[in-house]
Amino acid sequence: MAKNKTAYVCTECGQDFPRWQGQCSACNEWNTITEVRLGAATAGRSGSFSGYAGAGSSEVKTLDQIDLNEVPRIPSGFAELDRVLGGGIVAGSAILIGGHPGAGKSTLLLQTLCQLAETLPALYVTGEESLQQVAMRAVRLGLPTGKLKMLSETNVDTICDVALKEQPKIIVIDSIQVMHISDVQSSPGSVAQVRESAAFLTRFAKQNNIAIIMVGHVTKDGSLAGPKVLEHCIDCSVMFEGDSDSRYRTLRSHKNRFGAINELGVFAMTERGLREVANPSAIFLSRADEAASGSLVMVVWEGTRPLLVELQVLVDHSALSNPRRIAVGMDSNRLAMLLAVMHRHGGLQMADQDVFVNVVGGVKVTETSADLTLLLAMLSSFRGEVLPRDLVVFGEVGLSGEIRPVPNGQERLVEAAKHGFRRAVVPIANVPKKAPPGMEVIGVRKLSEALAAL
Ligand code: TYD
Ligand code: MG
Repeated sequence: MAKNKTAYVCTECGQDFPRWQGQCSACNEWNTITEVRLGAATAGRSGSFSGYAGAGSSEVKTLDQIDLNEVPRIPSGFAELDRVLGGGIVAGSAILIGGHPGAGKSTLLLQTLCQLAETLPALYVTGEESLQQVAMRAVRLGLPTGKLKMLSETNVDTICDVALKEQPKIIVIDSIQVMHISDVQSSPGSVAQVRESAAFLTRFAKQNNIAIIMVGHVTKDGSLAGPKVLEHCIDCSVMFEGDSDSRYRTLRSHKNRFGAINELGVFAMTERGLREVANPSAIFLSRADEAASGSLVMVVWEGTRPLLVELQVLVDHSALSNPRRIAVGMDSNRLAMLLAVMHRHGGLQMADQDVFVNVVGGVKVTETSADLTLLLAMLSSFRGEVLPRDLVVFGEVGLSGEIRPVPNGQERLVEAAKHGFRRAVVPIANVPKKAPPGMEVIGVRKLSEALAAL
């Protein structure tokens, strides 16, 4: 019998080592290196990997000779999902959908596959729920149930055998954490099993030109349970996020070999399953009827489209010697920086004030265009003055108090105008030659000008 191979793998960053060590020298984490035993067969099989176009042939081509029709995209039936994936599911690709338990991953994939199965052979492998549970859900959601092939199995080898027989074009594996492969001698869910199962399925997807979507659970801190290593071998990694007490779920891509990342797809969980939200600005903008101080709307740019989001700031006198600066949905380092800019260039002292910032609707804002909005909302709360409800603000603030332009200014203004905003304070370079109808656009160069504009 062939000798088994052993590898030592960091569960945080996926780095391989020849022997065990206490600290990972790639990511400096302690106690993350675990022993992974590879069966002789698995270790050998990794050598027979072949890529996409012309798999199996070792012919050299120039880029323009490669036929792009060899990687067709399958529309998933959900425009939001397609956009996050960069325009549909690429045949032969391996996609990982991560999310907290209960986020709705199984629901999303069941809805997608039931619809896809109408036109395309599809296989849904469930290792977590029983076939009856899945069937009950499909019936309750009123999905077409006649064509989708179902399999309850956790052994990867068996799944691949069944797939070779059934010849599906797309397979869902729910979830990768319960899968195991006979060559690896450790329990299901362990790093070794998850890593090898995912790597094997990915190779299987490419060799047979079958799209495979794997479900992965995440831990409390939001990383994929078990190995980060998963992210290395798959083509696309998307996260399904959302509070369990909110009905809205966002789908965001973290890695995509076939499109841009940071596209945002928005879904609503209803009693009839997941529904796409085609106009997300409207939901994140559901503001209270009465205007309040510290509340202001910004336009952030998500992937390829603008999104109107409300920002709330509360500035309150602090009883602590070290006042609190808390930001939810935003970077708190940026908040600290903007407070310093406000002091130096806006002449406002907030050293004895607590500052709380919240982005409404659970949206995470990473864009610098929120800087100016944050400063003006802060000022509004500090002074207890209500800002006009039809005002929208965006712009990056530099350390010397200058207001810098942001990309796609025109589109942001058009989106705001569409939602009934009549006034905008924006960087001077973002003022369009022709303002959107019915909207007054005020361009500012410096923080002092923005403060004066109010
Ligand atoms: P599920 O898809 O099982 O989550 P995951 O696979 O990510 O763990 O969905 C779980 C939640 O969604 C569950 O708590 C109930 C809720 N839900 C609805 O509100 N409406 C529905 O139609 C369905 C199917 C689920
Ligand atoms: Mg599930």
